[in-house]
This record gives sequence, C-alpha cells and structure tokens, in this order.
Amino acid sequence: MIRKFIFLSLFSICFLNEHSTAQIKLVANADRPTVQVQPTMWGIFFEDINFGADGGLYAELIKNRSFEFSQPLMGWTLVDNNRFSLNKESGGVLVINRATENASNSHFARVTVNSEKEFVISNEGFRGMGIQDSHTYVFSIMARRDDGGPGTVRLELVSKEGEVLGNCSIDIAGKEWKRYDAQLIAKGTEARASANLAFKGQGVTDIDMVSLFPRETWKQRPGGLRADLVQLLADMKPGFVRFPGGCIVEGFGLDTRYQWKKTIGDVNARELIKNRWNDEFKHRPAPDYYQTFGLGFYEYFQLAEDIGASPLPILNCGMACQFNSAEVVPLNELDPYLQDALDLIEFANGSAQSKWGKVRAEMGHPASFNLRYLGVGNEQWGPQYIERYKIFAEAIHARYPDIKLVSSAGPASDGELFNYASAELKELKADVIDEHYYQKPEWFLSNAGRYDSYDRNGPKIFAGEYAAQSVATVSPDNKNNWRCAMSEAAFMTGLERNADVVYMASYAPLFAHAEGWQWTPDLIWFDNLRSYGTPNYYVQKLFSVNKGSRVVPLTANSHPVEGAEGLFGSAVKDDQKNELILKLVNSNQGSTKVEIQVVGGFRRGGQARQWKMTARPEAVNGLDNPTDVAPKESVISLNGKVLSLELDAESLTVIRIPLK
Ligand code: AHR
Repeated sequence: MIRKFIFLSLFSICFLNEHSTAQIKLVANADRPTVQVQPTMWGIFFEDINFGADGGLYAELIKNRSFEFSQPLMGWTLVDNNRFSLNKESGGVLVINRATENASNSHFARVTVNSEKEFVISNEGFRGMGIQDSHTYVFSIMARRDDGGPGTVRLELVSKEGEVLGNCSIDIAGKEWKRYDAQLIAKGTEARASANLAFKGQGVTDIDMVSLFPRETWKQRPGGLRADLVQLLADMKPGFVRFPGGCIVEGFGLDTRYQWKKTIGDVNARELIKNRWNDEFKHRPAPDYYQTFGLGFYEYFQLAEDIGASPLPILNCGMACQFNSAEVVPLNELDPYLQDALDLIEFANGSAQSKWGKVRAEMGHPASFNLRYLGVGNEQWGPQYIERYKIFAEAIHARYPDIKLVSSAGPASDGELFNYASAELKELKADVIDEHYYQKPEWFLSNAGRYDSYDRNGPKIFAGEYAAQSVATVSPDNKNNWRCAMSEAAFMTGLERNADVVYMASYAPLFAHAEGWQWTPDLIWFDNLRSYGTPNYYVQKLFSVNKGSRVVPLTANSHPVEGAEGLFGSAVKDDQKNELILKLVNSNQGSTKVEIQVVGGFRRGGQARQWKMTARPEAVNGLDNPTDVAPKESVISLNGKVLSLELDAESLTVIRIPLK
C-alpha cells in the first residue's frame, strides 16, 4: 500500500503541469456505496485570531467598553483637551480601579464636567465603526451620578469627515449603578465612524460597559453577532463548529489560557484578558487586541445550534502554548483543569436541575446542546501531553462513555513529534486524533492519498487545521489564491474517499479583519461593513453542501483517482435524493477529457447539476471583487450511456447526477 502511495505521489507530481489530451475513463460504482460519510465531515474552525471575535463576529462597536485594557483609556480620546486629566476648565476623565469590590470588571471611568458646555470623549471602534444608512443602533451604558443629581450623556455617531450620522440621549440620575439604553437610526453609511459621548450637567458621572450594537444582528439578538458573517458560515451548512481555537485555548502562558467558566453568565462580569495574538507577531502587532468574551461559550454553543452544526469545544489540558512559554501544570495539580472539562459536559448536556445545566437553563437554553465531541488540548505535543491526555481520557470516559475525545497529533503533518503522538494515541485507543497541516500547495496535491494506508480500526482522524500556504507558513505574504484553493480541493477528495477514517475536517483560520489580521491565509475576510468568501471558502462550501451519505468507489484503471495524469476525484451517494455526487479536480494547465461510467446507471433523459470553479492560479477574491473566483452553476442533460466531460484547466467540478 505504501509503495503504491509513493508511486502515485511521484506520478502525480510528474504530470502536474502537463496538458492531458487523452480521455480518462472513470468508473463510479454507484451500485456499491461503501462507508458512511459522517454528518460531521466538513466543519468550521473558529479562533479569536485576526479580530475574529471582538472587532469581528461579535458585533460590539465600542472598543475597550469597560476600560479594562492594560492602558485603560486605549481606544478613547478626549475631544476638547486631547488629554485625560481632572480639573481642566471643561472637565476630565479619571480611571478608577475598584479591584477589591469587583475583581472581574475592576475599572470604570469617572467623567467630571466643570462647565455648562458639553464635555466630549470619543471612541474609535475597531479600526473605525461600520455604520449603515437607515439601520438602528442600540446604545447602552452603566452609569451613576456622584451626587445623585441629573446629568445627560448624548451618543453621537460621526463619520471620518466629521459629519454627524445620528445621535441619542440618556438622562442619568441616582447614586447607584444602573443600566441605561437608547437607540438611534443612522443617516448615512460609513466604515470608519467614531462615537462621541457628550456629557452635560456639571458634576461627576461614573460610566462603565459603554456599548453600541447594530440592532440587525444575527437572529436580531441583542448584543449578538454580525449577521453577514454568520450567514457566510450558515451557507456552508457545516457539520461542526470547533471553538474557541487554536492557540487561544493554550494562552501564551497559563494565565492567559482560555477558561470557559469566565466566559458565561452576565456579560458585565466576564473578565477581559489580553488576546494572545496581541503581540505574537512583531510584523503584525495588534496592541489593542483583547478578549471581552462577549462571545463566550454559551454563544458558541448557540451559534453551532443555529447553523445546524455539532459543537466541538477544545479545552486547555494544563499546558500553555509550546511555541511560547510552554508552561505545564504539575500532574498533581491538574484537577481543576479536568473538573472544567467534566463541568463543561454538564453545562452542555446536563439536565436543567444539575449544577451546570441550571446555569445554561438560566441563560435561556433549558434543552441540551447535544455535545458529543470534546477536544483535550489544542496543538500539544510530547510526553507531557500524552500523560495529561491519559488522565483526562480515563476520567471523562468513566463518567461520560458516549463523549468522543479529540486528541492532538501536534503541530506538524509528519516527523518525530507527529509519529510519537500518533503511536502513543493509537496505543491508548484514542477516539479522534487532530492533525494539522499548513503546507505548500504541492504538498496538498501529493498527499491526496495520505489516508489510504491508515489503519481502518485505529483512531479516527480530524483534519483539524489545514490551509495551503502560497509562500510559507506564517508568512504575511500568503495569499488565498486559486492555486491554494484548488490544491486543497484535490486533497479533500482524499479525505472524502477515506471517510471511514476521516470523521471531520476544517480549514484554518476562519476569519480575518482586512485591517487587523495577524495570520494569513484565512477563509473569510471582512472590514467593518463588508465580508467575502475566499476561493478556499467556496471550495469548502462546495464539499460541505454536497457531503452525501456514503462513499462510492471512483476509479481510473482500477485505481483511486488521486493524482495520476493530474486528476483527482471522489464520489459519494446522497441516499435521500438518490443522487451520485462527483468531485473532480483537474490540476493540469490544460483541459482534461473524462468519460464517466456510472455503474448502476443514471437517470437517462434526466439532468445533472454542475458547479465549476476555475481561475488563474494567482486569482484571489477581495472586498471589491468578492466573487471573482466562485462556483458557476449549470445543467447537463444526461443522454447516452456514459457522461463525457471536458474538465477546465486547473479546475474543480462538482456534479450531482440523479440515479435510476
Ligand atoms: O490557525 C492558526 C494557529 O495555527 C492556531 O492557533 C494553532 O492551533 C496553529 O498553530
């Protein structure tokens, strides 16, 4: 098997750039579907990297709303004085730390107004604020007056050029903290708006949790998610949502690891931390990148449910990022980490009477979130990981035998760390192993047969993070171009063909703010108003919406179609619709003719639906050209005994063929 794999890999590389003139005969045994394709097969990997959550999916427009950043006034400016101080003629701002009284949200701002005039501070948003004409914006603030007497705060949205886009006012009175709300309708569209807070009424006003959300969030949820971004995810019909990462799970050190319990309940009490991508890359610094956890574990579960996907949370296993501090918790102090995992299962699935199920119910979801998969550690490696995984696996399986655990094969697709982890985890009869590959497009093309030789009775595989790198891993010059997307499609035919081994797969990372990213390539890019899917997104979507139910053998000369003559292919049957779904990648620089024999027969006189993707290898999509590289749909009449197609140069073709 291994020899065959090496032969086919070399063969495919040799032919990669050749124009293929001969007609390739393919046979699809639609009468003999084999293994099941898991409902989880094609999913999404969410990580709060590239402003994926705050400044991205989480629709909050105010940056540093609770004054908790390391520089508590980052994101804010004082409009008149251009500096922060008390006792100026017009007024001033002081940041107060009440850590003993409120440890999770210790800072608030004290605004003093000294004259009859308005005293104004301004928030810059996340590289500005995206405001849309005629849309409603919901302003809220926690506030109190020092002397209890009345004061007013007016929120004013301003365009880059200083034009007022709308405003609303709140009267504040009383010495106790209280939440105040108001709304405005915007007059104009602007990607880089800012929000002024104008205080009127002499005296002192304390403020905290200054917030502005569009009303039109996903499902119109107050304080919710950006609808356009969730829609792009929903359109993929993903089988699972992995969250919250990524290295974000591990933290630079254990103090900045992801702790799910701190991300649920009252948003005001969710303790903010510095995002670990804030200063990870010197070439892409993001000093204003923090995690408010407004998008926390409850919201992740809700998101997965909304878009019909299985939730797949990944938890810290007592290890910080091994590329950074590499801190580990001693084995005899691992209990709180393990307890977090056991409690999470109860939070997701427990009855509304159980301790953690009750918390979920009180947040508005009495029913179970139906958690079936849980990740232990992100991209960990070495004996330290294996000994910690063992402790987690024994305890979790003893209490929750139905929960399948996802374990880590480390950061690389092969080599010493990978081999060690794979062998150890196999020995431990791990449920699902997470493999990562950030490799060049050529690697994806020559590894389409990677799983052909995997043990059918060994652990299942989660291709948890992959993306073809046009330049090199972590290079800021990597592009989401068609060459990369096409190579991923070729590789994915191999994942599909091996659906008895590969239970899940996801491209990574998912999101990137066009002005705030740290890592490229990414599946979906956005600015404050717009978003688009990359060519890679459309590849993922085509596979996912055409997942099918069972694998159908597809062969050329009795061999799997995994690169010979530059052609890659896989087939599945959609049992419900009684359709054969073919996915074919022609990696040649010229078109390739194929003749497909469907054993079992297609519905003659019927019509097949076809989606084609092709472009120049360097072609990309962008905010101004969001669908340059996207599938084109057409219909093919099914006449004759075989299906003859001419596959475009460097193309992906997906065809749904009605069966007899
Ligand atoms: O996807 C970006 C990073 O790559 C992830 O956070 C990590 O798991 C991997 O190293």
